[in-house]
Amino acid sequence: MTRLTNKRVLLGITGGIAAYKSAELVRRLQDEGADVRVTMTQAAQAFITPLTLQALSNHPVHLDLLDAETESVMGHIELARWADVIIVAPATADFLARLVAGHGDDLLTTICLAAECPIAVAPAMNQAMWGKVSTQQNLTTLRDRGISIFEPGDGLQACGETGTGRLMDVPLIVDAVSGLFKTGSLAGRHVVITAGPTREAIDPVRYISNHSSGKQGYALATAAAEAGARVTLVSGPTALPPPDRVTLVRVESARAMLDAVMNVIDGADIFIGVAAVADYRPATTESQKIKKQGDGSITLQLIQNPDILRTVATLKDRPFTVGFAAETEQVIDNARKKFEAKKLDMIIANDVSNQEIGFNSDDNETTVITRAGEETLTLMSKATLARRIIELIADQLVTESQTHG
Ligand SMILES: Cc1cc2nc3c(=O)[nH]c(=O)nc-3n(C[C@H](O)[C@H](O)[C@H](O)COP(=O)(O)O)c2cc1C
Repeated sequence: MTRLTNKRVLLGITGGIAAYKSAELVRRLQDEGADVRVTMTQAAQAFITPLTLQALSNHPVHLDLLDAETESVMGHIELARWADVIIVAPATADFLARLVAGHGDDLLTTICLAAECPIAVAPAMNQAMWGKVSTQQNLTTLRDRGISIFEPGDGLQACGETGTGRLMDVPLIVDAVSGLFKTGSLAGRHVVITAGPTREAIDPVRYISNHSSGKQGYALATAAAEAGARVTLVSGPTALPPPDRVTLVRVESARAMLDAVMNVIDGADIFIGVAAVADYRPATTESQKIKKQGDGSITLQLIQNPDILRTVATLKDRPFTVGFAAETEQVIDNARKKFEAKKLDMIIANDVSNQEIGFNSDDNETTVITRAGEETLTLMSKATLARRIIELIADQLVTESQTHG
């Protein structure tokens, strides 16, 4: 299970001999799903090169406070806002003193001053430095201020002495970082969601589509990410901004949506088909714009599109599969038929004949149907509804795993 999915970790490296272990720390944090950015003090750069950390983190390393160019790209305030947590590992005795004094004389101390997220320090130093009253008093002050101290271990030190001051082992730091966050109900799960309409081309300028805005699917993607899941959102054309912390794959047609889903579905835990996929597409797509011909009518022949929900639901190792039924009449009956016919795990019945809860509205009212029964979720915002649906899915997954051992 990846414990840091969607989490943004800013790793501060200071100038201790243990700085080389930070390279391993970047990798192990990434293994847990974290997005890691690195900032280094000037002294740290004497121990390990920024190039190494850049290559490992896949991002430029942040080094200077008073550098106009880097400040304009992602400045110290933006970095402080970006981070869900700041980890300083290794933290030198000098850095701890500067943090206690509230200094802002380099990039890392200034980010810590500007940060409102949790901060943790992993001190590493010679055993005598660790034992100094000044160091211990600084640690007490930091602890009192709510900063987490990842305590160093005992043993042989790089200087040849034996005692306390070795950087906490990297796996233990990763455990401690994970422990700073509440575990979401979908932590470590991969969720694939489709959203929005599809567009079926008639010719290069015209298409068949529908009124789906994508709002409910995007809200579900956000709610799943909030619950700790890794989320892939396959979206037809919408006017919505990409949700935060979600991998967005944009497509146009139903066939492109099916291809995009099949590319990512292997190993996924949950599939939620919210997209209003066009049931039919023109039998042929003209390569040139169709010209008006006299006063007469023209006939457009339509053929059936692939059924994405059914395709996913019939996979051998299928994910927990959730469908949406947008209906205009006999909503529950029709949804139930779709639930049975496609052998879904859950279906959400939506009355789109009602303008207040239809395609483009901000609110929704639905009935959730599972094998266990029906539950009506009365009028609420699409964002709130999304969180409720995600919790219902998470509950079902827990029930299923208990049933199947
Ligand atoms: C070879 C060498 C190793 C050092 N190792 C440590 C160390 O492990 N811990 C520590 O607190 N300071 C260590 N120092 C001292 C720091 O590098 C020094 O206090 C520096 O100013 C820290 O700067 P920074 O906190 O901005 O990174 C070491 C110095 C040298 C020359």
